[in-house]
Amino acid sequence: MIVRFSVDGAPLEAAPRPGQVLRTLLREHGVTAVKKGCDAGDCGACSVLVDGAAVHSCLFPAHRIDGREVTTVAGLGTVESPHPVQSAFVEAAAFQCGFCTAGMIVTASTFEHADLDDLPRMLKGNLCRCTGYRAIDDAVHAVRNVEHTGAGEAATRSVAAPAAWRVVTGTEQYTLDGPPSEYSGSEPPGEPGATTPLLHLAVQGSPHAHARIVSIDATAAEAMPGVELVLTHRDSPATAFSTGRHDSRLDDPDDTHVLDEILRFRGQRVAAVVAASVAEAERALAAIRVDYEVLPAVFDPESARRPGAPLVHPELGPESRAAAPERNTVAEEYGERGDVAAALAGAAASVTGIWTTSRVTHAALETHATRGWLDAAGRLVLRTSSQVPYLVRDEVARIFELPVERVRVFSARVGGGFGGKQELITEDLVALAVLRLGRPVQYEFTREDEFAVAPLRHPMTVSVTLGASADGVLTAVAVDQLMDTGAYGNHGIGVMYHAVHESIAVYRCANVRVDAQSVYTNNPPAGAFRGYGLGQVIFAVESAMDELARELGIDPIELRRRNVVVPGDPLLTIHDEPDPTISYTGEHGLGQCLELVDAALARTASADAAAAPAGWRVGTGVALAMIATIPPRGHHADAVVRALEPGQADGALFELEVGTAEFGNGSTTVHAQLAADALGTTPERIRIRQSDTDVAGHDTGAFGSTGTVVAGMAVFRAATALASRLATGAAGAIGAAGAQGDGGPREAHGHSDGEQRTVAFNVHGARVAVNPGTGEVRIVRSIQAADAGTVLNPEQLRGQIEGGTAQAIGSALYEEVRLDGEGGITTRAFRNYRTPKFGDVPSTEVLFAETHDPLGPLGAKSMSEAPYNPVAPALANAIRDALGARPHSLPMTRDRVWRLAAGADLTPTP
Ligand code: FES
Ligand code: FES
Repeated sequence: MIVRFSVDGAPLEAAPRPGQVLRTLLREHGVTAVKKGCDAGDCGACSVLVDGAAVHSCLFPAHRIDGREVTTVAGLGTVESPHPVQSAFVEAAAFQCGFCTAGMIVTASTFEHADLDDLPRMLKGNLCRCTGYRAIDDAVHAVRNVEHTGAGEAATRSVAAPAAWRVVTGTEQYTLDGPPSEYSGSEPPGEPGATTPLLHLAVQGSPHAHARIVSIDATAAEAMPGVELVLTHRDSPATAFSTGRHDSRLDDPDDTHVLDEILRFRGQRVAAVVAASVAEAERALAAIRVDYEVLPAVFDPESARRPGAPLVHPELGPESRAAAPERNTVAEEYGERGDVAAALAGAAASVTGIWTTSRVTHAALETHATRGWLDAAGRLVLRTSSQVPYLVRDEVARIFELPVERVRVFSARVGGGFGGKQELITEDLVALAVLRLGRPVQYEFTREDEFAVAPLRHPMTVSVTLGASADGVLTAVAVDQLMDTGAYGNHGIGVMYHAVHESIAVYRCANVRVDAQSVYTNNPPAGAFRGYGLGQVIFAVESAMDELARELGIDPIELRRRNVVVPGDPLLTIHDEPDPTISYTGEHGLGQCLELVDAALARTASADAAAAPAGWRVGTGVALAMIATIPPRGHHADAVVRALEPGQADGALFELEVGTAEFGNGSTTVHAQLAADALGTTPERIRIRQSDTDVAGHDTGAFGSTGTVVAGMAVFRAATALASRLATGAAGAIGAAGAQGDGGPREAHGHSDGEQRTVAFNVHGARVAVNPGTGEVRIVRSIQAADAGTVLNPEQLRGQIEGGTAQAIGSALYEEVRLDGEGGITTRAFRNYRTPKFGDVPSTEVLFAETHDPLGPLGAKSMSEAPYNPVAPALANAIRDALGARPHSLPMTRDRVWRLAAGADLTPTP
């Protein structure tokens, strides 16, 4: 059947396949303004107008489009002539990664003004994982949050993201939005200008949690229509690596292969097919015959560490850097400073408890994806949804034994990351396929892959014991942490060490014991997640602190005031000497944060009590978090700024090259502000080339909230150096020689090694109303105070804190990726997972401490992942206050809270 319809006013004729939906039909015809978040009708990223009505194009049968009119966000308006809703999203700064924005704007364009009080219902079909929805609410209500600034005055002002107009008009490119010209012409015998067909890769996942492949027969699959290549473990490079990426590749254990004969979790790659279409690749997968030897498996970390447990990685030796594979242990730390037992024996009050946290998916709306090809020089090029393109480049080169110069990796704008894209989980297979075929290949995760195959947040069991004197001085802290890293140890070492450091070191205490262990199981792998393990341990420690305050009869904020570190205190856990890389380099805002939250909670107490429904119980809770501003062992960034010839078509006066990827972290905005201020211009005059291993020297990547502090400092140094050169006449005039005139180079380089670290703080206050009859928890007050040093973009930072809070509310109250007890994920779609929707997220009052830290540019500290960490314990403490019974497990679902209110003992058992 042929369908004829229009898209954004242009006629289109197409022949949809049986069962095809409008979203894929549009994408196949180059309509990249339409995004995919789920392909199941749950997220709204694919929203378009069909004859003026908003629909989810992933649910709309393609054959029904005949004779109709489709409008995407790109058809609503342009930069020159925008739709009012597009302008409103720019003025309100209503996006971070922007991957939801096309669908949000399309949906919002249909709203009648009279309906605006009903936004939770009207936007229930559109998910945003980044913003916490407040800025979207502002956009729909035409609130202006961004400022327009003059030359040299952008820093500390709420300027818009450089990509704002491209995002709201659907022209900003994400990972799979690159044009065919990007990869065409490379296929031998490539015709100049010819379009090279893109091949698609699909993967067969293991049906077993632990098995060995005895035999695999791909003969039938290889003969099927459209199939170009079948890959099995026999095709895999022998080099072991870790999917987790860090500046030092030695931070993670080498326990993974591109394809492996041994399968250690359900869903692990068994084979891959490369074919002309995804459908043909998937059909061929079903024709691959595999015989398995099923091996004994282990699914809980407590069993996994016991003697005699099935071993997940018996093959690993010391060179793998896994601590003790013979005990399924990836990493462990045990130690004591002082004498905890004696301190507890002498304590006036002590508390002890066990807390558990669940698996959580990052739920970045853009799924993992990589497109790869060989360029005209035969270099391997990977366009990928990575937070760490340089680290991916280095590891791909190592795996395939290529010189790094023969590999280029770059990211376009990435649709959200939250740590989930600090992994190498699609790039290696695409590289293998491209190197074998010499043709462009694409691999795109489905939403189901994100639940079942992509790394999740580490579930942890944390025991905490605290002791204190009668006047509330902490005398003993003991933390026992057990985490399930799953079948592979990516981030299983770093998360463990990080989790038991700042969570404990934020308190002064003479007697501290830590027992921490990160354990392999045959569950799906865990990985980096916003907060990097701190959130799980802080949930336990801050819950215990609250309980200790009750034992002592001291206000919980006052107990923290008496015990938190103050400037000059060493940051200690079990070692007598502090980590030499962490110190206070600037002002310390924790005290201010505590006072700000205390005052805000007091100010709103009676109004909140009055607002609670009759019969509901009201409770108040607080929690705090400290985080080191940079990951350990260095985080490096280079930047180059150059003056441009006058008369550039885009109006740019300067070009900035920096390696940092933009995925909603906002670092690109801050980089433009810093460069503009140093050079005495406006951010619009700065052209930015980024996240490409072919530009700036090196960038460790956008994780650990380093975009502002590390890469921002490199940018500021480069821009300041160029400004000084231009001011003193040391830079030559632009002439025929281009960027280097007679007086010297008109560009400057900046570097930041990120080796010295400081600390940032967050304090969260929550007031909840709990319905004891149903277990419903309503957040009636949410306040977060942050010590981020100099705030370089207040509106953007407010958005990061609101977004982190919203994500934390999700994992505190609803979100849990469930397993069937035998390693199988049963939560495989948004509709049975529940990421917070518009109506689930309360507004959060965001307050800033006034501090300055010379480590960061203009005094800024980092602040992207930290806001997540104190939210769950603040909510738990508020629920405890309301009910008189303490939650010990995340998520604090309605069912759990109802049972708690009814007097059930839900304390986890050791
Ligand atoms: Fe269509 Fe998610 S992609 S609703
Ligand atoms: Fe909404 Fe990222 S801005 S999903």
